[in-house]
Amino acid sequence: MESTKQYKSCNCPHSRPRRSFLQWLWTACLTLAAVEVGWLGFSIFNASGKRGKERTQDRIIDAGTVDQFKPGQVKAIAQGQFYLSRLEDGRFIALSRVCTHLGCALPWNYEKQAFVCPCHGSTFDRQGLATRPPATRPLDYYRVRIENGVIMVNITTSVGRSGFSSSQTAGV
Ligand code: FES
Repeated sequence: MESTKQYKSCNCPHSRPRRSFLQWLWTACLTLAAVEVGWLGFSIFNASGKRGKERTQDRIIDAGTVDQFKPGQVKAIAQGQFYLSRLEDGRFIALSRVCTHLGCALPWNYEKQAFVCPCHGSTFDRQGLATRPPATRPLDYYRVRIENGVIMVNITTSVGRSGFSSSQTAGV
C-alpha cells in the first residue's frame, strides 16, 4: 500500500523523460487532429466548388418567347425532347415526354387535349397529371425560368413529383 503511494507521487529525475515524451506525443496528436480537420474543411470547400462548376454546366434550352404561346397550348420541343405547356393561367411547365408507367414516348393528342400513351393507354393532362391508368404518377418536369420574355428550360435532369404545384411552373 505504501509502495503504491510512493510510486504515484514519485517526482524522481528518471520520470521526467517519460513525462516529456507524453507531452510530445500529446502535441503530435493535437497537430495531427488539426491537420485532419483542416483537410476535411478543404475537401468540403473543394466539393462545393465542384458542384458550383457543374451547375454552370447545366444544359439550358431556349424554348422560345412567351408571346409565341397561347394559354392552353402544348408544344413539343424537339431540341430538348420535352413538351412545353402553357397553362390556362399563362404560366409555363416543361414536361418529360416519358410515360411514368413503363417509359413509352408520349404524343400530345390535339383532339383529346391530352397526352395519350400508345403502349397501354394512360392519359395525362396539360399539367402532366395522370388522368387514366395504368400510370398513376404525374409526368416528370424540367425547371423553367423566364428571362426577358425568353423561356429557358434546364434539361440537365427531370424532376419526379407526386402532384402539381405552381412551384413547378414559371410565369411572367
Ligand atoms: S408505358 Fe404508358 S401506359 Fe404503359
